Amino acid sequence: MKPTVAPFPTTRLRRMRQSPALRRLARENTLTVDDLIWPVFVMDGKDDETPVASMPGVTRKTIDRVVKAAKEAHALGIPAICIFPYTDMAARTEDCALAWSPDNISNQAIRAIKDAVPEIAVMTDIALDPYNINGHDGFVEDGEIVNDRTVDALVKMAIAQAEAGADILGPSDMMDGRIAAIRAALESGGHQNVTILSYTAKYASSFYGPFRDAVGASSALTGDKKTYQMDPGNSDEALRLVERDLNEGADMVMVKPGMPYLDICRRVKDSFGVPTYAYQVSGEYAMVQAAAQNGWLDHDAVMLESLLCFKRAGCDGILTYFAPAVAKILNN
Ligand code: PBG
Repeated sequence: MKPTVAPFPTTRLRRMRQSPALRRLARENTLTVDDLIWPVFVMDGKDDETPVASMPGVTRKTIDRVVKAAKEAHALGIPAICIFPYTDMAARTEDCALAWSPDNISNQAIRAIKDAVPEIAVMTDIALDPYNINGHDGFVEDGEIVNDRTVDALVKMAIAQAEAGADILGPSDMMDGRIAAIRAALESGGHQNVTILSYTAKYASSFYGPFRDAVGASSALTGDKKTYQMDPGNSDEALRLVERDLNEGADMVMVKPGMPYLDICRRVKDSFGVPTYAYQVSGEYAMVQAAAQNGWLDHDAVMLESLLCFKRAGCDGILTYFAPAVAKILNN
């Protein structure tokens, strides 16, 4: 359908922009608290939190504090919280065995949240990097990040998280074949209602820097992730990955990072019409915070605009560190 535009002055597009009331009536997309998934960092200890220097306003929290945060998030109407673990350097190994331990910090946090606030959906991260001595998302053999042996480990991780009570599993590792393997294990393990939000089009991006500080992976990482994460120059490949992950049993797909990749979000939504999410990553958050702290940008206005634009690009929801701050504004 082609929009009809009669010549000026019959058509004056400014007529519909003249007042808040008309602008509200004509608005095509809106941001609501229903669109938010809040990523949080969990660490060992009790009643404590430490700031992440490159992410002003974000802290790593002990489990009791994460539970408190989950209660606050639920009270604000945020539907989901996503857990990322900070693992002590000494606990990271080459075999990554802690990744599928039922008692690792993530699985403890999942249990504690589902116990205290069962209504909030808990999302997880499936990748070996928080547990891997070399900071990679997969096992490293002779300098190569090996695929199939990693997938076996990811399946064990997924099952441990499902058993802890996770609602949404988030494989973020970009190995091939992991969605099919995880889905099959969930089905045969009695976890048929556990959902998978696949990090489907995850790019090898420099915007993850502050996150790697937050989880202590920056110093651990040897080399880069370009042999498994996507090339930022590619777009058609994202569609192949989405089709593949949907065929393998993903319920939802994600594009990551967010704002520089809105074209990918739009293509994914238009091509498949499935639940589509974007991750407004740590570097995007850090840029806004840094500029706002300098008085160069209006924090709240830019936060709201950046998140609304994900909706316009076709996303059903956004993982964002701004979630509680934006929810407070939207609720007023
Ligand atoms: C790791 C993982 C990363 C992020 C989410 N899960 C970092 C990476 O791939 O190196 C990045 C999130 C962010 O930057 O906010 N599997």
